[in-house]
Amino acid sequence: AHVWRGVINEYRDRLPVTDRTEVVTLGEGGTPLIHAPQLSELTGNTVYVKFEGMNPTGSFKDRGMTMAITAAKEAGAKAVVCASTGNTSASAAAYATQAGLTCAVLVPEGKIAMGKLSQAIAHGAELIQVRGNFDNCLEVARKLAENYPVFLVNSVNPNRIEGQKTGSFEVVDTLGDAPDYHLLPVGNAGNITAYWKGYKEYSEEYAARDGSTLPAVSTKRPKMWGFQAAGSAPIVLGHPVTEPETIATAIRIGNPASWKQAEEARDESGGLIESVTDEEILEAHRWLSAKEGVFVEPASAAGVAGLLKKFRAGEAPRGATIVITVTGHGLKDPQWALKGADGSDVDPTKVDFDVVSVADALGLT
Ligand code: F0G
Repeated sequence: AHVWRGVINEYRDRLPVTDRTEVVTLGEGGTPLIHAPQLSELTGNTVYVKFEGMNPTGSFKDRGMTMAITAAKEAGAKAVVCASTGNTSASAAAYATQAGLTCAVLVPEGKIAMGKLSQAIAHGAELIQVRGNFDNCLEVARKLAENYPVFLVNSVNPNRIEGQKTGSFEVVDTLGDAPDYHLLPVGNAGNITAYWKGYKEYSEEYAARDGSTLPAVSTKRPKMWGFQAAGSAPIVLGHPVTEPETIATAIRIGNPASWKQAEEARDESGGLIESVTDEEILEAHRWLSAKEGVFVEPASAAGVAGLLKKFRAGEAPRGATIVITVTGHGLKDPQWALKGADGSDVDPTKVDFDVVSVADALGLT
């Protein structure tokens, strides 16, 4: 039987490691590419979701973190630092623990989901709540890494992008070629950068032009469609947002570090970056759980929200293969499932412990 060995061991020849590298891994990657029948039927496409919530700490960040922590350890680091809206801190804390490194995380006070906060604390990170937003946290984390002996493991660290590009490799390996479209949420813009890099490196065009000695795997490249939350949509607006807002706290970011790279991914692929409202995000979040059986956190639904929005505007493709990355698990931030479509609290039925009462409550009598 084939046992998945984590993204570095699975894609060793395409990542910056040597035979002597001691790999820090929790077995990340190998996540399911799930056919989404309802989205497919509605839009007239073949739609898959890449369920990144199935990674060891519940988000796609683990792909980048195995590489960043492996590289930090190889370089002799004793401590790492990151700024985070939650998932990066959970991932950094877990991988640093396995590597035996100290981990400091800077998070915006009061603006990270409980599940993520719990993870960072459980793994023993030095958790600092900053009176400011993610962009402020990242600025401080960068300065900290410049002036003190700590390694920065945000996605401005190229090792993070290297690890995260394996998401594309897995999609192509599963489908047999690249999809026509790849949709995903955009926050700090590391992931869209990484996916595009992965698709390029796997394609014939890249192999020919860049003279790569590795075999090309795909004949085509997808159009990259990225979606920001409307209250935190600097790339769409064309200027930084000083006070980003959205219920999708994971992508509550006003000045993405990989802004330029995200625009390159968009333009080189013939894609787009647009915004979706919080209402559209929550609708897509409900759609995924209630119609497709996939439970994600709100930010993770931004790509699906984008497809629904483009479909309704008559701007979605037909007959295409579409992959949408859903980036983090619903258990990270479960409160949103307990609200109805109208925003009211869901109140589960209570009954006495006899079969007739239960049958009554179920409408079986
Ligand atoms: N979805 C989730 C669940 C995220 O946690 C993030 C980013 C994104 C999407 C956006 O990805 O930043 O690569 O464009 N979370 C970071 C964090 C910022 O700190 O956990 P991106």
